[in-house]
Amino acid sequence: MSERITKWERVLPERSDRPEGVDGSHPMRAVVEQIASSEEGWTQERSAKVRELFDSMASDWAERNGPDRTEALAEVLERLSLPGRRCLEVGCGTGSVLGLLSPRFEAVVGVDLAMGMLRKVDCDGVPLIQGDAGRLPFADGSFDLIVAVNAFLFPREFKRVLSPSGSLVFVSSNGDRTPIYLSPDRVGEALGEEFSGVSAESGNGVWSCFSRRPFWDEAMGA
Ligand SMILES: C[S@@+](CC[C@H](N)C(=O)[O-])C[C@H]1O[C@@H](n2cnc3c(N)ncnc32)[C@H](O)[C@@H]1O
Repeated sequence: MSERITKWERVLPERSDRPEGVDGSHPMRAVVEQIASSEEGWTQERSAKVRELFDSMASDWAERNGPDRTEALAEVLERLSLPGRRCLEVGCGTGSVLGLLSPRFEAVVGVDLAMGMLRKVDCDGVPLIQGDAGRLPFADGSFDLIVAVNAFLFPREFKRVLSPSGSLVFVSSNGDRTPIYLSPDRVGEALGEEFSGVSAESGNGVWSCFSRRPFWDEAMGA
């Protein structure tokens, strides 16, 4: 599997204010793993519980926004010339990275399960949809890029709404100490053999980018 993923050397150093984070025993780890392996585990009941949980955390969630939430994605955007015009951010929460995405793509849409989170987004001109990433309300091939920051991976659904040449950028802002975390290898495994990827540790985070049509060779050599 790892042959399909090129690991890039760390570029940004770890920040001195790195949050402590969690380990593999955190309850979210089991959920994120289960969904990545089989979306059958994402039941209406589980979806309702997760929505309730994030609605209950929405009032002060934006206080977590800061450089460590954005720098890994900022690096991807700077280093890889991500192709395409249409970008979907799944699990956008209070919109910590929508402001990075909106100037770079012609159309950016944010989706989140929790209305409480979406109410806190302050990003003019970005359409926001309350919806479930396990049942995205979009036609097949609607997006050239899906961005997931500290969000669940729904492999079948993400592949359905990505265009044939589309890419997924998956970011864990506190690396393997992030509660909703999957390693780049696990993301690649869940997407399947048709996808290749590139990944790097960056600041406090780790990012990976996957596509059926890899486009990053030039950027990697740069
Ligand atoms: C850990 S928070 C991350 C929020 C934001 N990306 C950030 O880094 O600040 C996870 C987000 O995913 C949302 N979420 C959880 N399950 C989801 C689903 N099935 N579909 C869409 N959003 C979901 C939650 O409501 C929450 O806003």
